[in-house]
Amino acid sequence: MNILVVGAGYVGLVTAACLANKTNRVVCVDTDPKKLAKLASGQIPIYEPGLKEIVDAAVSNKYLTFELGIKAGLTKVESESTEPTLVFIAVGTPQGEDGSADLRYVLAAAREIGQQLTQPAIVINKSTVPVGTAESVKGEVAWQLFQRKCFIEFDVASNPEFLKEGAAIEDFFKPDRIVIGTDNENTKANMLKLYRPFVDDEKRLLTVGVKEAELIKYASNAMLATRISFMNEIANICDRYGIDVEDVRQGVGMDSRIGPAFLKAGCGYGGSCFPKDVQALVRIAQSVGVEPLVLNGVESRNKKQKQYLFEHIVAKMGKDLTGRKIAVWGLAFKPETDDMREASSIDLIRALCHAGAQVVAHDPVAKEVAEQVFADLIRNGRLTLVDHAMAATQDADALALVTEWAEYKTADLDALKQSLKAAIVFDGRNHLNPVVMKQHGFHYAGVGRV
Ligand code: UDX
Repeated sequence: MNILVVGAGYVGLVTAACLANKTNRVVCVDTDPKKLAKLASGQIPIYEPGLKEIVDAAVSNKYLTFELGIKAGLTKVESESTEPTLVFIAVGTPQGEDGSADLRYVLAAAREIGQQLTQPAIVINKSTVPVGTAESVKGEVAWQLFQRKCFIEFDVASNPEFLKEGAAIEDFFKPDRIVIGTDNENTKANMLKLYRPFVDDEKRLLTVGVKEAELIKYASNAMLATRISFMNEIANICDRYGIDVEDVRQGVGMDSRIGPAFLKAGCGYGGSCFPKDVQALVRIAQSVGVEPLVLNGVESRNKKQKQYLFEHIVAKMGKDLTGRKIAVWGLAFKPETDDMREASSIDLIRALCHAGAQVVAHDPVAKEVAEQVFADLIRNGRLTLVDHAMAATQDADALALVTEWAEYKTADLDALKQSLKAAIVFDGRNHLNPVVMKQHGFHYAGVGRV
């Protein structure tokens, strides 16, 4: 099939490369010439395992090309196409000032599509957008066509993505489900044809109405965030009673109605999706007069949970951390990514520095990103970023683990103990084994662990 993907960001690039991998002809466009120059020279602007390999393969087989802007992209796709063009909108939906999703890039893309389209098309929203956005996109495209006095057949569908950073390629090729939101039989047939090669079982293809698909995306992310916040609250109760939250998690997760996934307590969720999408769903609810009681709780618990490590460090070491050196392991919001958006490390490191501590931090891949995020703290000498985990812990008064990178789990505990000034470890992800840590003589504190 002939496809245009608008946006060479995380979702756009993964979508374009994976679709091209199944012998679809894909043109991916972006407005940023620097990003396109990078891609043209074989560089991938984001860290995502496996992405470079499939982009390289699709580019060398000529199934994937890049163009600057929608006009150039559509011209190219339409010249090669006899079927309706599939146009994916995969541009950013940043958080607006009031917490709702800012649709300016989505609507700008719709406008330009309407201005440039010359053949029948199916426009597909991949971006995470509020209920009713497909309707707005439809209106925008139609208005532009009307102004051009063009009568070109087109439809707008919703096809949300459920890609996890760090596992996006696997998620695309082996999805739990593909949600196709459309009220049009022709669109449905085309979308099913496109996605059939990605599923082992037709049941994984869920076709629903457009608005239903739009809400499924938010509801899914909010549900996962709810499970995490819920377990984080349980972990706080565990702390007071001296109960091990890992045992509770196991017992709860063994109920087949509940299941074990996404019940890990920790120092709060981050990333580009959960915090933003929960807040956006709060606004969606409020906009139609529904009081988002549960969603507000999910959000508040997460904000509080991001202070968990700092509060426990202060409880142990005192409020004034002047002259104290704290090592931090992990800066990314989760392992296998360099993404630091809404990462718990930001709250912790800023709080530690504010309390007078000297922080030395390590992350296997997020150092470059962290240099920008913490430019002020680095400049004024409060924070140092280092290349090796053990360089961070050298002479530190305590270690705080914020991201559960595999290399931290296999750290040489004797070497760690020797490098620290005091053998104190705060584990914000329950990543290390408390029994082993205690056997090695550490004062070990996890989240809701005994
Ligand atoms: C998420 C959704 O999983 C994905 O379907 C959607 O498309 C985008 O948002 P992502 O943001 O990449 O993906 O991260 P995910 O792996 O889901 O983790 C999100 C956050 O939750 C991380 O900060 C992680 O540390 C935290 N988390 C996850 C927990 O604290 N406990 C858990 O049990 C699971």
